[in-house]
Amino acid sequence: MAPRKAWAVAGGMGVVLVVAVVLAVSLTQGRSSQPGCESCRPDGDMMDYLLSTGHISHKDGLLVTWYHAANFRSEMETALSSDVMVLEADVNVEGLNTENETGVPIMAHPPAIYSDNTLEHWLEAVLTRSIKGIKLDFKSIQAVGPSLDLLRKQTEDGRVQRPVWINADILDGPNVPIPAAVNATQFLSLVQEKYPDATLSVGWTTLYSSFTPNSTYTQDMIEKMHSLVEALPQKVTFPVRAVMARAAWSHFSWLLSQSDRYSLTLWQSASDPVTVDDLLYIRKNSAIHQIYYDLFEPILSQFKQLAQKRSGSSRG
Ligand SMILES: *[C@@H]1O[C@H](CO)[C@@H](O)[C@H](O)[C@H]1NC(C)=O
Ligand SMILES: *[C@@H]1O[C@H](CO)[C@@H](O)[C@H](O)[C@H]1NC(C)=O
Ligand SMILES: *[C@@H]1O[C@H](CO)[C@@H](O)[C@H](O)[C@H]1NC(C)=O
Repeated sequence: MAPRKAWAVAGGMGVVLVVAVVLAVSLTQGRSSQPGCESCRPDGDMMDYLLSTGHISHKDGLLVTWYHAANFRSEMETALSSDVMVLEADVNVEGLNTENETGVPIMAHPPAIYSDNTLEHWLEAVLTRSIKGIKLDFKSIQAVGPSLDLLRKQTEDGRVQRPVWINADILDGPNVPIPAAVNATQFLSLVQEKYPDATLSVGWTTLYSSFTPNSTYTQDMIEKMHSLVEALPQKVTFPVRAVMARAAWSHFSWLLSQSDRYSLTLWQSASDPVTVDDLLYIRKNSAIHQIYYDLFEPILSQFKQLAQKRSGSSRG
């Protein structure tokens, strides 16, 4: 090899090395966290994180509190000044499916396609002014890619030192007359490609009707979900409509037994007649770190009171 060429090669390697070092440092910074805080990162465990911040005293999903639809600026402000531990917000695309569609991720729950708050502004406010956990709920596949790009940018800048949950309903579930799920293949591959360091929160679309009280999640629906995520590396929490959970409990119990990465998040629609009895049954038949309870009052307080009484008496 001619000397000049050798120099060029050596110089080239030097550049590669510098680039590699800079990349490694910026990646470590992006992922780094408070010293000794394993869970202060987007893919950290939510309960471990809240334990490390002192918000909960032990790993029990019943201690975790949620703020719904912290979307518009006023709602986000209320959420930020509350003592709630995890902010849940809905992401949509501005002007979705109209001539005015911009591709900009905004904070809005469908059918709303306009908002006074963009995801970019939301992240800026939430990351700067709170240490709350983050759950972003995607109602359309178009919102996912650009949003994950924003998240990745913030993470590379070292600003996302807390768990992030990426939520979408990716399969059709009980009582749903027309398919409405976010495309599972596209959703999961976007997460793997753009923002794999997060917890997946993937559920089924549902409709609850008191006229069909027996209708609930089927074994088939649950196995299908398991088959979509079993080979993935992420932690996965499955949002489950609480009012239908007990009737399908054998299936969910099976699902939880399939992986340590799995948990459930029981949620309630405002008018769902969830009973304390069903909740106590589920709590008794699961480990306390396996289930989050995102429920409304007064049922939540009633349930907490009885659940704590029970665990108190079983300890004593
Ligand atoms: C799009 O924006 C224009 C200008 O603001 C408005 O006149 C029009 O009604 C909008 N179209 C839709 C479908 O919202
Ligand atoms: C989801 O998207 C994939 C890839 O674009 C496509 O092949 C598949 O048919 C879609 N699935 C559904 C249920 O629409
Ligand atoms: C459906 O619910 C009714 C009323 O609770 C009950 O009597 C019946 O056994 C249930 N049927 C099935 C198939 O679970």
